[in-house]
Amino acid sequence: MKIFLDTANIEDIKRGAAMGVLDGITTNPSLLAKEGVEYKERVLEIAKIVDGPISAECISETTEELIAEAFRIAEWHENIVVKIPFTEAGLAATNQITSEGIKVNTTLIFSPNQALLAAKAGSTYVSPFIGRLNDAGHDGMEVIREIADIFNQSELETEVLTASIRNPRDVIDAALSGSHIATIPPNVLFNMINHPLTDKGIDLFLADAKKYSPV
Ligand code: G3P
Repeated sequence: MKIFLDTANIEDIKRGAAMGVLDGITTNPSLLAKEGVEYKERVLEIAKIVDGPISAECISETTEELIAEAFRIAEWHENIVVKIPFTEAGLAATNQITSEGIKVNTTLIFSPNQALLAAKAGSTYVSPFIGRLNDAGHDGMEVIREIADIFNQSELETEVLTASIRNPRDVIDAALSGSHIATIPPNVLFNMINHPLTDKGIDLFLADAKKYSPV
């Protein structure tokens, strides 16, 4: 499974990239608002750090406006994936945009039916929000499993990009559920590093190393 970082924070992206584990980045208007920076400028900054797909989100609402906005955003950089919220207008825009070679990440997916429609319309990625599904009393991971099964059985090339991840266990469950990608918030990625037994083991090795002369 590929790992994307779900952030627009440059320091976190540099730290994740330095770890050598990042395959791409996803951003959205809320993440950008948190940074208080200009969207295009920040996406171009990110592209200098990570050589992989970078999702940048459209905010238009009609098909025509979405298409125009998607073309503008896609011109920023060759690694841009245009993120389009799941709506009927978004499906029509996705179909036209992808037929012209632009990659689309359909976001705000909450059901296998929506994922199937997005894939049929030509989406490169679908982003089911598992944390928000769980918050609403649904089983987010079951939605991931069903979407992954449907795409496999129907031989659809669209990739499942699990989003709205809240903890390290979600990452494991996404991988086991057949997700192609997990987009992970920085705090969760950095928590994945930690294990108390690793810390304890290092302390023990360091204490024992004091008992002989280092090479
Ligand atoms: O990638 C989508 C993600 O940013 C939403 O996460 O935690 O706001 O549901 P959350």
